[in-house]
This record gives sequence, C-alpha cells and structure tokens, in this order.
Amino acid sequence: MSGFTAAGYPKAVPLAMARRIEDAHGRGEKFAVQIWSGASTGPELDGALAKADGIEFRMPYNSDPTARDKINSGKIEYLDMHLSQVAPMVWEGFLGTEDIAVIEVTGIRADGSLIPSTSVGNNKTWIDRAQKVILEVNRWQNPALEGMHDIYYGTALPPHRVPIPLVKPDDRIGEPWFRCDPDKVIAVVETDAPDRNQTLPPPDTQAQAIAGHLLEFLHHEVSMGRLPSNLLPLQSGVGSVANAVLAGLQTSSFPPMTAFTEVIQDSMLDLLLTGKLASASSAALCLGPEAMQRLTDNMAELHDRIILRPQEISNHPELIRRLGCIAMNGMIEADIYGNVNSTHVMGSRIMNGIGGSGDYARNAYISIFTAPSTARNGAISTIVPHVSHVDHITQDVQVLVTDQGLADMRGLSPKRRASLVIENCAHPDFRPLLKDYFDRALRESYGLQTPTLLSEALSWHQRFIDSGSMHV
Ligand code: COA
Repeated sequence: MSGFTAAGYPKAVPLAMARRIEDAHGRGEKFAVQIWSGASTGPELDGALAKADGIEFRMPYNSDPTARDKINSGKIEYLDMHLSQVAPMVWEGFLGTEDIAVIEVTGIRADGSLIPSTSVGNNKTWIDRAQKVILEVNRWQNPALEGMHDIYYGTALPPHRVPIPLVKPDDRIGEPWFRCDPDKVIAVVETDAPDRNQTLPPPDTQAQAIAGHLLEFLHHEVSMGRLPSNLLPLQSGVGSVANAVLAGLQTSSFPPMTAFTEVIQDSMLDLLLTGKLASASSAALCLGPEAMQRLTDNMAELHDRIILRPQEISNHPELIRRLGCIAMNGMIEADIYGNVNSTHVMGSRIMNGIGGSGDYARNAYISIFTAPSTARNGAISTIVPHVSHVDHITQDVQVLVTDQGLADMRGLSPKRRASLVIENCAHPDFRPLLKDYFDRALRESYGLQTPTLLSEALSWHQRFIDSGSMHV
C-alpha cells in the first residue's frame, strides 16, 4: 500500500477489502492480509482493516489507534523497522514476495508513468516488485503536485552500489514520475477523497519551553562556531512537540535554513512560507486542512522549494551523514545515561514505531531527543533510571531536551551524563528520587562504569503498572 504519515494512501480499495473480509468472517471463513506500507496511513486503511480483523501482519510503522490496540492485544503481528531499510530489504529478498501493490496517484500520463500524490514513501519499490498493481487516481490531490517529486532509480544491491549523487538538500537526482509497466496494472479506481489531514493542536506551555531550550542551544552552537549561521539541514520528527519546535524557529533570526527530513508538517510549511526555510526535502506532505489550503494558495511559490523523495533516499544514512543533518525527534522516555525509548510504553505496549528516528539519530551531525518531563498528568517521569525498551543507544543520543532544560551529553562519560540529565531534564517532583537512585547505584552497583541497581532499574515502571503512578 502507498502511504506515509497519513498522506497519499489508498482510500477506496482498503475499505472495499474490509467489507469483503467482514463478509467472509460472517460466513465463518478465514481472511486476513499482510500489509506493507511506507509508514502510517489513515483510518480508511489501517483503521478499517484492523477493525475488520483483516490484518495478520503489518510493517513498518503504524499510528492508527485501532491497529495499535490489535497489535497490543496480540491480534496483529507487527514488524517495526527503520524506514530507510524497508525498500532495500524487500529488494534483497529478506521479507518475502509482494503480491499486489495498491498505490494512490495524482494522475496517469499517456506513456503509463504515474504522477505521485502527497507521499512517495516506498511506492517506487512497491510498483517495481509487485506482481500486480492497482492504482487509485485521486481527484482530490492537487494536479500542481506534478514536478515536486524526485524519484531516484539509481539504487542497486551490493556489490553494485554506487554513491548517491546528492550533495545539497535541495538537489534533484531523479525523475518526477514513477515508472510502471502497464501490463501489471489490473485495475484503476477513481477516488475523490482527502488525506486524513489532521490539524495538530497549538503548542502547549511544555512544548513551548522545549522549543525555547532548543533554540537557545542552536544559537549557542552558532556562536561557538560549531554550526553555520543558517544551521545545517533540519530533520524534525512526528508529533505535537516536533511541530512546536519548528513553530519556535519562526521567531528565530537564523538566515534561510534548509530541511532534509521525512515529513513536512504544518509548521515546516509555515517556515517555507515566511522564507525562514529556503527548501524542504521529505518523503511526504502531512498537513492539516488549513495548511493544505495555504500550500494550494501558494503553490507557484512553493512548488520548486519542496522535494518529495522515496524514503530510502530521504532517510538514507549516507546522505544524512554527508549533509550533517540536525536530527530532532520525540521520545517516550530516556534514562539517566541517555538511552532513548521512542516506541514502547512500559516496555511492552507499542505507541507508533521507530519510524525514521534511528536512521537520522545515528547519522546526524547533532542528534537531539525531546519530551515533556512528565506524562499522564504528572504520574510518569519521562526521565527514568533505566528505559523500559531501547530504540536509541546512548552513543546515538547527544542532546536531551525537556521542558525543564537541556542536557548536552556530547563527550561525557556515563556518570557525568547521569548527573547532567538528572539536574537539567528531570521534573523537580522526580529529581530527588533519581538522585537517590544514582547515589545508591554509585555505592552498590556491580560495576561503576554505568552504575545500575538491577533489582530497581525498572521498578518505576512496575510501580506505574501496579498503582497508576511512578511516584512512591
Ligand atoms: N509513558 C507513557 N506514555 C507516554 C510517555 C511515557 N513516558 N510519553 C508519552 N506518552 C504518551 C502521551 O501520554 C501521549 O498519549 P495520548 O496520545 O494517549 O495522549 C502520547 O504518548 C504522545 O505523547 P506526546 O507527549 O503528545 O508526544 P508526541 O506527539 O510528540 O509523540 C512520540 C511522541 C514518541 C510518541 C512520537 O514522537 C513518536 O511516535 N516517535 C517515534 C517515531 C519517530 O520518532 N519518528 C521520527 C521520524 S518522522
């Protein structure tokens, strides 16, 4: 299925499939499918198919609440993958065969090539690898999107890989359309339906505080000569905090910046509109209805400054390292040593998935993770003695930011990291508890490189599960 962050996903075929699956189940027949996509999709796809108990396996990312519940209740097998690795692994043959690709497009050209819609995701690979292709041509998608996409056909398998010829975030290295063998197309479905187009809530005070600390840090790095005055290409993750951080950049005095990221949310579009951002490269446009209207109204001005790429390129480690991206991603929790959990609540319940955060974090020039210092109305500390699940190891996490402050952990050993993170990032309600844990770990731990009390390290999470709060 096409689709990346609820943009450019098929809207009619999955709904029809869900109805057929429900009918089959009504007759007592088994019917469930495996769904591969770019990233998250919308309620017409993951939501409808999950509700019908029609998904047996899902990869590589989900944020739909119904599908999330089915995953967490063990009814859907879910493979949470680095987004850059999906297409290569499909080509390498590690993930099995792909039967049918269902791809939303803006249009079909006379020569059979396809005009992509609001996301590119893995569509190039899905079309190339599928035995059969179903196209949804969505009239709702703006025809002026044509030409915004950059589909690179130069990837190959080892030992034939060559450098990807992209040296600036706004370079175009491919073609604007998908190639598609017309003999594979078994159906064309016309639709006229919007992407999910959810408007993110305005930044709350915690998100604004996080944005403030982060902006101060970026200014400091410029003043120290460690970043150019217009920074380096920005990557910004999903969610409300990421959106708030970008909104904060609107008031900054940096000369026009660039973005090399995987999703353009509302605030990034606004940075383009005010000229704070010169260009933005991404795998998808995930905009609320008003932001989508702003894009339409300003299409002539924005068209060439937005580049939509396959996710194996937008998230490619080689390119992220070459460009020196500043990676800014949200997290569920971090521990005092700087390990980050982006995906699992209390170690076992998936929230969304790792998405592109790992692709960027490991290869970034500066890797930053953000979260409010508490969750669930203060019952949970997002700074804990030990993360309950690890997505990003300390080596991939350089800066932590909460509403309380910022910990720049670059160059620090684990014990120095711990002191700084507790002091700067933990909420005052939890800081004494963390200090107490760390002090005792310094005395009682088996080893003193990364002092840990094994019998206590995850006790905060267990306390929450038992009592609904991490407070003692
Ligand atoms: N324990 C339990 N729940 C927690 C939590 C914690 N430590 N931290 C956050 N949450 C819950 C919040 O309560 C909220 O739940 P709700 O939706 O039921 O209200 C939810 O997680 C989202 O938290 P919020 O503070 O609103 O942050 P966000 O919208 O910025 O999302 C992530 C944060 C981590 C969920 C999100 O950034 C994500 O999915 N990241 C992984 C993917 C990624 O980084 N992609 C980057 C490349 S695009």
